Amino acid sequence: MDQFNYNNGTLFIEKTSIEDLTQELATPFYLYSNEEICNNYHKLNNALGNLNAQICYAVKANSNQAILTLLASMGSGADVVSEGELKRALSAGIAANKIVFSGVGKTSQEITFALKSGIFQFNVESEPELKHISELCVLLNLTANIAIRINPDIAADTHEKISTGKAENKFGIEHTRTLEIYAYAAKLPGIKVQGIDVHIGSQINDLTPFEATFKRLAELVIKLKKAGHDINVIDIGGGLGVTYNPEQDKKYDLQHYANLIHQYLAPLNCKIIVEPGRSILASAGVLVTKINYIKTTPTKQFLILDAGMNDFARPSLYDAYHQIMPIKQHSTGETSYDIVGPVCETGDTFAKSRNMPIVAQGDYLVIKDTGAYGAAMSSTYNTRPLIREVMVKGLQYSTIRAPQTIDDIINQDKLPEWLIDED
Ligand code: LLP
Repeated sequence: MDQFNYNNGTLFIEKTSIEDLTQELATPFYLYSNEEICNNYHKLNNALGNLNAQICYAVKANSNQAILTLLASMGSGADVVSEGELKRALSAGIAANKIVFSGVGKTSQEITFALKSGIFQFNVESEPELKHISELCVLLNLTANIAIRINPDIAADTHEKISTGKAENKFGIEHTRTLEIYAYAAKLPGIKVQGIDVHIGSQINDLTPFEATFKRLAELVIKLKKAGHDINVIDIGGGLGVTYNPEQDKKYDLQHYANLIHQYLAPLNCKIIVEPGRSILASAGVLVTKINYIKTTPTKQFLILDAGMNDFARPSLYDAYHQIMPIKQHSTGETSYDIVGPVCETGDTFAKSRNMPIVAQGDYLVIKDTGAYGAAMSSTYNTRPLIREVMVKGLQYSTIRAPQTIDDIINQDKLPEWLIDED
């Protein structure tokens, strides 16, 4: 059971009434369940069982310090893709030796900082990057532990914008060139080859592409070992999906996922790194928002919310489906609404022709499963400040990020001297 449930017609997060929170805090705001994050983490960790595995949470899904600190307390490592994420992970107490650094465009500054921090592994995505890391290592007299990210050319049944494991995607090095690249890496000074890495995409609810990937990885590791490379880490990336739409999304069994790791990868005696983001955070968060207006046209009823695409971008970016529900069930009957934000774009739409309980102006709604890739992808478009983030544990709640102010935004801009009024 998740941590968002109706009790006497009112939606609760854990033991806290969301309606009570809306009396205290201005909407819109993100709201997270401490318990749900822990449950999701433990479910995966327990499924991995006695495998020699380390969860490295993908910080990009939600990088709030409170969330990273909570995950660190359960033993999580981190998968980071920028100096900013690396600094966030370190300052939340995640040990450097549990941090992997992914991404196709690591800069000199980022590589240098990561080398000096002593991270566990760079997941290297191209030959020029490999060469660049080697040069920096020589300069700094340091060694980089690396894995090569292989592009396995395996299609994950997901949105094209979040599929990463096909040959035409920008990620990784063609699997057919694996031996060649490792031979090149082995010769480079400052580089210690320790592993192999893949990440085939995100929101994957069918385990078939994972199985194909693990099979491919196992074959490659055997070949690499034969060729004399000391491979002792297999990073299988993230990608496990969640059920956004209970009527459509396939359900997979986490234990089955773990069994596939056991079957294909455990015999290789390597440490397994898993980089989940969405599957830990998505179901732990909702976006709490108010219906500012209900606008009726000859063909539609629009619910106009105080949250917009700048606060939560997934529906406008990926046509993503998210359940939307009222925090008070006070009506009988359903009707169809288009649920939109205030931003001046037609794409600022959270749901089209959505059947839901009849609601009134001034009612509050939650947009569900927004804990991952929600706040982390928000922007100040239309000069709308970044919104508050709140975490609940039982009956307690705490603001884990204060809302940005409009002045914060304006004051970041600077005038060139020729526009400054002298008098
Ligand atoms: N590892 C790497 C190298 C990644 O690129 C990603 C996600 C992950 C791990 C975590 O994947 P997850 O377990 O969360 O599926 N903004 C999009 C998702 C982009 C995912 C990017 N990479 C969305 O809202 O659907």
